[in-house]
Amino acid sequence: MSFSPTSVLVTGGAGFIGSNYLLHVVQSYPETTFVNLDALTYAGNLANLKAIENAPNYTFVHGSVTDAQLLSRLFDTHGFDAVVHFAAESHVDRSILDPTAFVSTNVHGTLVLLQAALAAWKNADRPCRFHHISTDEVFGSLGLDGHFTAQTPYAPRSPYAASKAAADHLVRAFGTTYGLPWVMTNTSNNYGPFQFPEKLIPLVIRNAVVGDPIPVYGRGENVRDWLFVEDHVRALDLVLRRAEDHSTWLIGGDQEISNLELVEMLLDAVDQATGKPIGTRRSLIQFVTDRPGHDFRYALDSSPVQEELGWSPNHDLASGLSRTVAWYLENAAWMNAILDGGYRDYYDLQYGSRGMN
Ligand code: NAD
Ligand code: TYD
Repeated sequence: MSFSPTSVLVTGGAGFIGSNYLLHVVQSYPETTFVNLDALTYAGNLANLKAIENAPNYTFVHGSVTDAQLLSRLFDTHGFDAVVHFAAESHVDRSILDPTAFVSTNVHGTLVLLQAALAAWKNADRPCRFHHISTDEVFGSLGLDGHFTAQTPYAPRSPYAASKAAADHLVRAFGTTYGLPWVMTNTSNNYGPFQFPEKLIPLVIRNAVVGDPIPVYGRGENVRDWLFVEDHVRALDLVLRRAEDHSTWLIGGDQEISNLELVEMLLDAVDQATGKPIGTRRSLIQFVTDRPGHDFRYALDSSPVQEELGWSPNHDLASGLSRTVAWYLENAAWMNAILDGGYRDYYDLQYGSRGMN
């Protein structure tokens, strides 16, 4: 299968993964136009896109995927032949504090976007390929052994995971019922430049730099598989252009590690990058009340995307973390612009009751 889109709607392109994706594709495909529709929630940041903001094949539109009229206008004007749907509420802890926005954006927003893509196809008689970006969390929680595959039954356990699972089901239902061509990717934990510091890795780097306590949930035994965002973005590009319609691809980094081991590795990397004796910052680690319903382990079998589409990650955890730490140290202004009242309020709500200052 070979598909070369001419006009692509990217949703949520001012967030972490969406901005890394746009930085890659806008420069790689100058003949393709990219429209970035983003509501600029707390997680959306146009500073991520400085390098391409004036590119002739890139346009930013401020708006929500829940706005059917806006979507209809955008499809009419731009004649999209592909949608890459990143827009979502993406943080598990926030979904535990209040799931409402997760259902609105992740479930209802995905439905509205699917309806817009389908209507545009019926009007223009040209199918619009819908690439849905999803997560390994829809499959639930693993014990010490085994991997999720594309055939693993869904068993989401957090409000975030449940909202993403509902969205995934809607995408597949639009394929089965109305024939909408879709492809889907379910991915493990990403990290790298431009990640909002509510997620574990940038939060640890930020706290380590200023000497704040590092909150580790429970005893830090939960296991995640980490994927460097630039490797993820290359896989997404391959799937959009090469995968068959109605196919699902699991993309993981094959870099499993417990949270405590990861945090120690990260703190040592910050020590090294700032010229401190390795191990100095480990004393900042503070075990705090566990996340309710905390999934123990995620792990993905990525062999199909490797064997059938020829993708492989370029970064192991050590090289990815060292690039990530270097990026955050060099981009203190980016971080400082985020650490406003809104971030502080969230931090106090999330960690205050766990005994953190
Ligand atoms: P993020 O929270 O950094 O960014 C989300 C973006 O969506 C923001 O720019 C935000 O402004 C925008 N947005 C939110 N609501 C919107 C709406 N109603 N309309 C338009 N835009 C809206 O998220 P991320 O980490 O970049 O994740 C992107 C996608 O990848 C999500 O669908 C997420 O579920 C999925 N995913 C993320 C990870 C990860 O580790 N970060 C792993 C697997 C899958
Ligand atoms: P997170 O980055 O929120 O991603 P996800 O919940 O989607 O996996 O968290 C990664 C892991 O780190 C997860 O097991 C929860 C844990 N964690 C902490 O121990 N402390 C923290 O402050 C945060 C944000 C996460």
